[in-house]
Order: sequence, then structure tokens, then C-alpha cells
Amino acid sequence: MQNFKNKILCGDCIEMLNGVDEPVADLIFADPPFNIGYEYDKYKDTLKSEKYITWTRDWMGACVNALKPHGSFYIAIGDDYAHHIRLIGEQLGLTLRNWIIWHYTFGQQTKTMFARSHTHIFYFVKDKADHVFNDHAVRVPSDRQLVYADKRANPRGKMPDDVWNTFSRVCGTFKEREGWHPCQMPELLLGRIVSVSSNRGDLVLDPFNGSGTTVAAAYQLERDYCGIDISSNYVENSRKRLEKLAQERQNLQKDGEILDMRQRIELKRFYFEVRKDVSEILRRKSLLEIFTKLYNIRLNEERKFDPQEVATALQGILD
Ligand SMILES: C[S@@+](CC[C@H](N)C(=O)[O-])C[C@H]1O[C@@H](n2cnc3c(N)ncnc32)[C@H](O)[C@@H]1O
Repeated sequence: MQNFKNKILCGDCIEMLNGVDEPVADLIFADPPFNIGYEYDKYKDTLKSEKYITWTRDWMGACVNALKPHGSFYIAIGDDYAHHIRLIGEQLGLTLRNWIIWHYTFGQQTKTMFARSHTHIFYFVKDKADHVFNDHAVRVPSDRQLVYADKRANPRGKMPDDVWNTFSRVCGTFKEREGWHPCQMPELLLGRIVSVSSNRGDLVLDPFNGSGTTVAAAYQLERDYCGIDISSNYVENSRKRLEKLAQERQNLQKDGEILDMRQRIELKRFYFEVRKDVSEILRRKSLLEIFTKLYNIRLNEERKFDPQEVATALQGILD
């Protein structure tokens, strides 16, 4: 059987994942072509609707075959085929836990209709009673904590809504943009999914690897990863993306930085999810304390960071 652990593989995900005898993945994130005519280098994104739906059923079935019994399965999709994904998921015996709307800024501009600014993300599990859900890793401060200083506030914060509006699309001018793939997802959005639905050492699989966002997030969060893409060009470039991250990890260790790579991406994600300007966090002592406390809760480690350490690390990351 093909070895999937810590690999970016070139090939057809349906063939590869149907060939799995024993399920390998703890978490699958799939962002398939949406059938809206995007220009990929190998895949043609203009199938007849019937054919696209059959193909969707095939790749979802192959993913279910490769997913462990307690695994989670997230799928990003546009409006046109969202209802098919929901239905096929049910037919494959999956349980839908959330129908998430990713609301983004920098959508395509329109003149004759409202500008589209969202993508659906389906969150399925195989076992509705037994699956990983690390709520501590995604909690955000409540208004009771941040605005009203209300003593009744839960000190652990609150769960985010199922409309996600903190993650912008990765535009051409963004530093994060790889530049060689037409639809790169934001790393921090994948960070949220990987952190909440897997544990360190679990295997996170992306059957439509693209620019390698899922594997990049999994790598930084100390999960095993596997990405599959039909384009050898995208595969080669994603491998380079991971090599750069490996180099960065080594540099962080060498320079004796306060936070390791996992703690850094978690801090960055937390900062963007809190939606307060860094200058305000650093200026208001009470805010920095709440921020630090919740960050430690998110990390869930014995070693606790103090506000000064968090302030220094935050400045370093945002510089
Ligand atoms: C929407 S993109 C994924 C983007 C990715 N989430 C990212 O952040 O970069 C879809 C990808 O699926 C790939 N693809 C299409 N058909 C495939 C297949 N049968 N097996 C594997 N990959 C495929 C395309 O080459 C494309 O890179």
C-alpha cells in the first residue's frame, strides 16, 4: 500500500484513496475545483453538471474509504453544488456537524448583482459520538470579557460562530501568496480546522493539495500530513513551500525564539481572531492579560507564557 505519511503525492486522488486497504487519515480537508471555469494547469474546471456530480460522489467516497472511523471530513464548496455535497455526505453515512459559511473580503467585483463573498465549508464526521473536537483550541474572548468587564463572563471565552469572517482571501498582493496557484486558501483558516479537529501526530490529508495550504498548516501544527494533486507542477512547488517551512523551523530553534513554530502560528491565528489592533492589546494591561490567559488555554500546555512574553512574541510576529 502507498505510504501517505508526510508526503505530497502526484496523482488522481480517487485512484489513490480507493487503493487504501486500511484507513489512514484522522482529518481530511478537501477544496475541490468548483466547476466554475478556473484555470488550473492540468485539470479542466468545466465539466457538464451531471459529470461533475458523479465525480464528486466518486472522490467523496474515496475520501471516506481513507478516513479513520473517528475521523473528521471538511469540504469547501461554492453555491452551485453545496446541496449535492450535503446529500452525498449523508448517503455515504457521514454526520454533518456544521454547515459553516466562510465570509471573506476581497471577493470578485460585480455590476449587475451583489458581489459573491462566501464559500460553504461542510464539517462532517464518521462517528457522531466519538471524534476529536478541541474546543479549547478555538475559543475566542467574549464581549463580556473584552467590552463589559462582566464578572459573569466565562474565563475560557466562547466558541466562534459558524459564520467565519476573520479570514481574508489570499490576494495577489499578500505576503502569504505563493503566486503560482489560482486559488490559495488562507493558512490561518486551515489552522483553525487542523487545531480543532486533530491532535499532534495525527495524519491530516488533503486530496486536492493545490498550493499546499493544508499541508503547510498541518506541518506547522506538528501533525503528519499528506497532500495529493493531479498536477506535478503544483506538487513540486508545494514541496518547496514545505522545505521553506522546515528551514524556518530550524532557524527559530537556532535563534532561541520564545515561541516554537506551532506556538507562533497559534499566536498569529489568535491575534487575527480577536480582532483588536496590536497597539491596543499592548497598551491596555487588562486586555493583554485576557489575551495571554486565553492564548495559554488554547495551547493547553504545562508551560504558561506571561503577558510580557506574549507581547514580545506578538510584536516579533507582526513586524
Ligand atoms: C481549488 S484547488 C485547491 C486549492 C488548495 N486548497 C490551496 O489552498 O491551494 C483544487 C486542486 O485540485 C487539483 N485536482 C483536480 N482534480 C484532481 C484529482 N482528481 N486528484 C487530485 N487533485 C486534483 C487541481 O490541480 C487543483 O490544484
